[in-house]
Amino acid sequence: MEENCQQTLFDFLEKDKGAAEERDSGLRLAALEEKCRGCRLCALRDGCTQVVFADGSPRARLMLVGEGPGAEEDRLGRPFVGAAGKLLDRILEAAGLKRGELYIANVVKCRPPGNRLPAAGEVEQCLPYLKEQIRLVDPPLVVCLGALATRTLIGGSESLTRLRGRWYKIEGRSYKPTFHPAALLRDSSKKRPVWEDFKEIARCYKQITGGG
Ligand code: URA
Repeated sequence: MEENCQQTLFDFLEKDKGAAEERDSGLRLAALEEKCRGCRLCALRDGCTQVVFADGSPRARLMLVGEGPGAEEDRLGRPFVGAAGKLLDRILEAAGLKRGELYIANVVKCRPPGNRLPAAGEVEQCLPYLKEQIRLVDPPLVVCLGALATRTLIGGSESLTRLRGRWYKIEGRSYKPTFHPAALLRDSSKKRPVWEDFKEIARCYKQITGGG
């Protein structure tokens, strides 16, 4: 399961899809977003202001997946724009990653009331949207921010502390679990491991995109 990102580079070079596919992916994502905006499969939509679908490039080579929108995200309609998002922006900048080049989404698209963890049924109903986002964007690298995204996309019963620090190859993509930025705001001992993770993520990303 553990994977050297060199292999990911070769996989990616093998399937460079070109500009037409990029436009296609953008259109399909827009259609998926519209469908998601009309979704009433769980009760979360009744309690939130708006659906927070995603942010970033439809052909990003690196996708970040969080848990679900918080109050600020619900207000502004974009993922990771509150306190955790501002910290994420600083981590990305320090690692030399441009937020606009990436694709950022959450496991659930509607804010759970009082910022509680999304329930298993809510995750199950929303997961097809995330899976389709991953399929359409087709990023070789996916970062799972926090335990929920890790459990949902990588699986396993081990703690995030045990899972992080490695890449997991699943269906041709490399997934990296790391702590959620909100966890760093509560526990500064997590800053160092997250920084190590992002240095490695940036190294692989730059290798894949030819950015040095
Ligand atoms: N936390 C998340 O997991 N996602 C967001 O969009 C914001 C905070």
